[in-house]
Amino acid sequence: MTSKELRQKYLDFFKSHGHTVIPSASLVPENDPTVLFTTAGMHPLVPYLLGEKHPGGARLANVQKCIRTGDIEEVGDISHHTFFEMLGNWSLGAPDANGIGAGYFKDEAIEWSWEFLTSPKWLGLDPHRLAVSVFAGDADSPRDEEAAKRWLDVSGRQLEGRIDYLPKNKNWWGPAGEAGPCGPDTETFYWVGDDTAPEKISQGDLADHPKWVEIWNNVFMQYNKNAGGGFEPLKQKNVDTGMGLERTLAVVNGLDDNYKTELFLPIVKKIEEISGKKYGESEEVTKAIRVIADHIKAAVFILGDDKAMAPSNTGQGYVLRRLIRRAVRYGKLNNLSASSHFFTADIGQVVIDMYKDVYAELEKNKNFILDNLTQEEEKFEKTIEKGMKEFEKLTKDKEISGEEAFVLFSTYGFPIELTKEIAAERGLTIDENSFRVAMEAHQELSRTASSGMFKGGLADAGEESKKYHTATHLLLAALRLVLRSSSEGGEVLGEEIYQKGSNITAERLRFDFNYPQKLTEEQIKKVEELVNKKIEEKIPVEMVEMPKEEALKLAKISFDPAKYGEVVKVYKIGGFSVELCGGPHVANTGELGHFKIAKEEASSAGVRRIKAVLE
Ligand code: SER
Repeated sequence: MTSKELRQKYLDFFKSHGHTVIPSASLVPENDPTVLFTTAGMHPLVPYLLGEKHPGGARLANVQKCIRTGDIEEVGDISHHTFFEMLGNWSLGAPDANGIGAGYFKDEAIEWSWEFLTSPKWLGLDPHRLAVSVFAGDADSPRDEEAAKRWLDVSGRQLEGRIDYLPKNKNWWGPAGEAGPCGPDTETFYWVGDDTAPEKISQGDLADHPKWVEIWNNVFMQYNKNAGGGFEPLKQKNVDTGMGLERTLAVVNGLDDNYKTELFLPIVKKIEEISGKKYGESEEVTKAIRVIADHIKAAVFILGDDKAMAPSNTGQGYVLRRLIRRAVRYGKLNNLSASSHFFTADIGQVVIDMYKDVYAELEKNKNFILDNLTQEEEKFEKTIEKGMKEFEKLTKDKEISGEEAFVLFSTYGFPIELTKEIAAERGLTIDENSFRVAMEAHQELSRTASSGMFKGGLADAGEESKKYHTATHLLLAALRLVLRSSSEGGEVLGEEIYQKGSNITAERLRFDFNYPQKLTEEQIKKVEELVNKKIEEKIPVEMVEMPKEEALKLAKISFDPAKYGEVVKVYKIGGFSVELCGGPHVANTGELGHFKIAKEEASSAGVRRIKAVLE
């Protein structure tokens, strides 16, 4: 079966059960600051799972492009990917006690899953190779005997002995962000061994078995996880299912490795051709080929998205950078690239050709994709050798400090995660504590505070950048005062000045803020004078931790409050500045030296940018 046939069969099956087929949403979520990428088909549908009416009705199905980087280090085995397509169907609101609701719940969801998986008309999988897991139950939600019984019924008891009751960490689908719709799920597993599948399983077998591969997840979304971590019943009962296209295609074709399916084979072939290595010739080479294939495919889809961005040091751009650089490094590590030849665009071209019929945006954005791949590879190529030498030097007789890890990043372009990974390969550790301190220095620059996401804004660390953090707070307070007193509208304009962006290195600060026009020379001079006065006053910088609610009354913030934790750090500089901030900061403004604005310019419409240095 080809991938095209599989996608089509899935959509046709659910169309025949009254589902409307909707297009894949962008990889970059709209209006959701809690995650960088669309991680599942349900993700763009959250408002509808919560009760909003979807124009397509109460039954929807689609194929959604997804990026998940949470287990990027697992990539290299047979079935983990950073980019994948998810086949999904949704019921938005099962009929309630009064029969209101055009969706469905467990009965139909399970019946249709069994039919689609095993009927010769659809996937025709061998029922003896299937097993299912259901939720084991806890204080939040009961043991799902209902789902177990339904599986036995619809399978004519063929699943007897192969139903596993698993706890919340396995059989519960939580929201992509911290709060949102969720519920117990039931998952379908396929035995990928050459041998006969076990007729009976022991409890817990499905939790983590290399031969039982999960292919489909049916989530019974009936709760909303609130910000306090409690579970409230949703006003409607929903179904959210997700089936991984790559895994399912492998299984349907009797393959034990996703990279042997047509969704990877042409990429693998191209890498073999460029490198002269053979997939399967050794574990290292196989892993490297898988990582390169996976990461470049993901990079192509990110760059090819209509809401794409180029590689950068923050947010989605940072993930993109990390993917490309990790692929390049795996190329080097295994001598996969001829040194005079940039290879990422060659592979990128293969990915575009494979997918352009299904995802037209890839062809449309082809030049952007290929140019960015090559540019990023070139940039990294320039420093990778030197960076590796520096790494060897740094780790000669000790573990690597957080500060040194930042030097590798800022000077040699090694994403922090890459440095950690190289260290781990050699049995070395990074001094996690100082590393974390260095990371925290950049937290306020981060575009996402979601746990498990990559923190953005990494630039440099140490004492110098600490000074610039504190100087940034002084600058914002000074801008508020100076622009307020000089604006004709009186207090209003000045009050409303807030941070639109901030970037700090060891050499300078860069600060973006909303203001409609160019600052006059006099205003710039006044801001400088005010900041320098506060430096000369040698004011202690105080930090207090307090509940977010309280902090929001004290300080103006420019980010969505939902991005902060429940307890936040507030930094106070005398009566002059109060800011919510991850820190760290210097202990006293007297440490800063002389503050000078080097440049004031437009950043975008209605936003000014100041670059300033401490001398
Ligand atoms: N949200 C669930 C998942 O991603 C089912 O779609 O696995």
